[in-house]
Amino acid sequence: MDLLSLLFLLSFVGSCAGDVILPDGPVDEILGKNVTIKTLVDKPNYAFIVWVFNDGKEEVHIATVSEKGLKVNEPYAGRVSINPTNGYLSLGPLKASDSGEYGINIISPDGATKTGMIELRVLEPVSSVAIKSDLPEAIEHNSTVVLTCSAKGSFLKFAWINGTAPIVADGKRLTVKDEELSSTLTIAGVLRSELAGPIFCTATNKMETEKSAPFNLTVYYGPDEVAITPLNPPKVVRAKSNFNLSCSVTSSPAATFTWYHGQQMMEIAGPVLTLEIIEKHGLGKTEEQYTCRANNEKTLRTVSSPAVSFSVMDAISGVTITGPTAVLLAGNSSANISCQATSGIVNTVTWLKDGKALPANARLVFANDKSSLSINPVQKEDNGQYTCQLGNPVNQEQASYKMVVNYGPEPVTVSGNNAVEVNDEVTLTCSADSVPPANFTWKFNQTVTDVKTATYTIPKAVYKNSGMYTCEAYNAITGKTTMLTHTLSVKEEGALDPDLSDGAIAGIVIAVLVALAAAIGLIVYCRQKVPVESPY
Ligand SMILES: *[C@@H]1O[C@H](CO)[C@@H](O)[C@H](O)[C@H]1NC(C)=O
Ligand SMILES: *[C@@H]1O[C@H](CO)[C@@H](O)[C@H](O)[C@H]1NC(C)=O
Ligand SMILES: *[C@@H]1O[C@H](CO)[C@@H](O)[C@H](O)[C@H]1NC(C)=O
Ligand SMILES: *[C@@H]1O[C@H](CO)[C@@H](O)[C@H](O)[C@H]1NC(C)=O
Ligand SMILES: *[C@@H]1O[C@H](CO)[C@@H](O)[C@H](O)[C@H]1NC(C)=O
Ligand SMILES: *[C@@H]1O[C@H](CO)[C@@H](O)[C@H](O)[C@H]1NC(C)=O
Repeated sequence: MDLLSLLFLLSFVGSCAGDVILPDGPVDEILGKNVTIKTLVDKPNYAFIVWVFNDGKEEVHIATVSEKGLKVNEPYAGRVSINPTNGYLSLGPLKASDSGEYGINIISPDGATKTGMIELRVLEPVSSVAIKSDLPEAIEHNSTVVLTCSAKGSFLKFAWINGTAPIVADGKRLTVKDEELSSTLTIAGVLRSELAGPIFCTATNKMETEKSAPFNLTVYYGPDEVAITPLNPPKVVRAKSNFNLSCSVTSSPAATFTWYHGQQMMEIAGPVLTLEIIEKHGLGKTEEQYTCRANNEKTLRTVSSPAVSFSVMDAISGVTITGPTAVLLAGNSSANISCQATSGIVNTVTWLKDGKALPANARLVFANDKSSLSINPVQKEDNGQYTCQLGNPVNQEQASYKMVVNYGPEPVTVSGNNAVEVNDEVTLTCSADSVPPANFTWKFNQTVTDVKTATYTIPKAVYKNSGMYTCEAYNAITGKTTMLTHTLSVKEEGALDPDLSDGAIAGIVIAVLVALAAAIGLIVYCRQKVPVESPY
């Protein structure tokens, strides 16, 4: 047994007096650097200080320092030194194989031995931190995504980060499994926003932290709920209007749309279905349901919009009203007024006369479909503006006809004084209701005058103006004439007392009549009171 073997033996059986000569480990140092393993002793009295190395398989002598100086075991030549004052072991540059347990034995001249053990970890620097996905792209809810973060280095710890927030495994949908040189993050039923990140992973050891490049994975999703506008279209849509249906949906990648009427697919792609296309397909004549379906080529999901229903109807146009063209005579002619549209379906017909509803009556009869009306015979009150309004759910159009019913003249009235004083101005005004307006002529005492206007004026009355003034009204269309005679008497000046007003005259007349009546009453009364003498 040589000296070294003896020393080793001593180191393991030697009386360890309980003195602690090395600090707690481990000591970490990066590959390639130098490390100094310090002791807790100062200027010990020793014969030998021996450092040994144990990599877990075998124990190797490193170096010994004694009075004779430093003796280094061959494999460590040039890489170690021991401080003769305090026993510090300097080792380097470090190799990965330097990791392991280091033992020190301090043997005093009397043979007493102190020993200590400490672990040295040679850290490889962190490098090549990268994330990989098992899938190039994922489908929301369907895909289970496994991300692997790999790195080089030793004693690594991994962490996952989404943006700036740590990703926390929940042990169910999200699980993380760490190994020496990698970490796997498994996300079952991945969600759309989950990997938008960017996702980072970090690998850390005691000395340093390295971050991966940002990583994101496209997660395809949708279509979500499909919206259709308008959701509540009118029940009937006006033909050729700029009406259309459009669909929108959240989807990645963008959804493609197909359109259906009822269950029938239309040869239409795209998010907008125009009325023009509906009409081109010959649709819209009856009320039908329309839907769009959104399809996502990646997720293979198809979602239908709510159904909207409507029919298409032509607007009414070209409304004309036709009435009699012949001359109409009240009480004698009949009239038929009719109303048509050149296009559009007519659902409602409303007749108005002078803007008010026109009711049927004994003379006025509507056709069953109200497309015409007949008046037999026409009367003067039928004059006016006739309007027909044709309506359907998409519009209303109207047309008007003015009907002229000729009648009259009605009985003549003449206004003006019956008595005037000499030199007074006299104005007699004649009027008679008539269509067309009557022509007037005046006669004085049966003799035709040359006055042809409605008013007969005498600027200054003279006595011989007294007499009978006859106004004749003549309607050239009806051929009828009506007339009235007005009597005028011209009196001497003052004869018509200007102080007595008409009211006063009336008052006087009434007073006289009352007095007269009283007198007569009294006489009758008195007669009754007079005892009738009996003839017997
Ligand atoms: C590391 O130790 C070796 C030998 O012990 C020495 O030659 C070298 O200069 C040291 N390097 C540093 C950076 O201290
Ligand atoms: C991650 O997303 C960003 C922006 O959203 C994009 O520019 C980048 O190319 C993506 N990276 C990967 C790896 O998909
Ligand atoms: C997603 O999952 C559903 C139900 O498991 C399946 O029907 C569908 O085909 C899957 N989608 C894709 C794109 O694999
Ligand atoms: C109008 O009626 C009268 C009788 O009231 C009749 O004599 C006349 O012929 C009628 N005229 C027309 C044009 O019908
Ligand atoms: C009006 O005349 C048209 C055409 O002559 C006819 O068809 C219609 O029945 C008439 N209307 C009435 C209410 O008599
Ligand atoms: C007109 O007739 C009235 C009554 O008949 C008569 O008093 C008067 O003198 C006549 N006047 C003329 C101008 O003939």
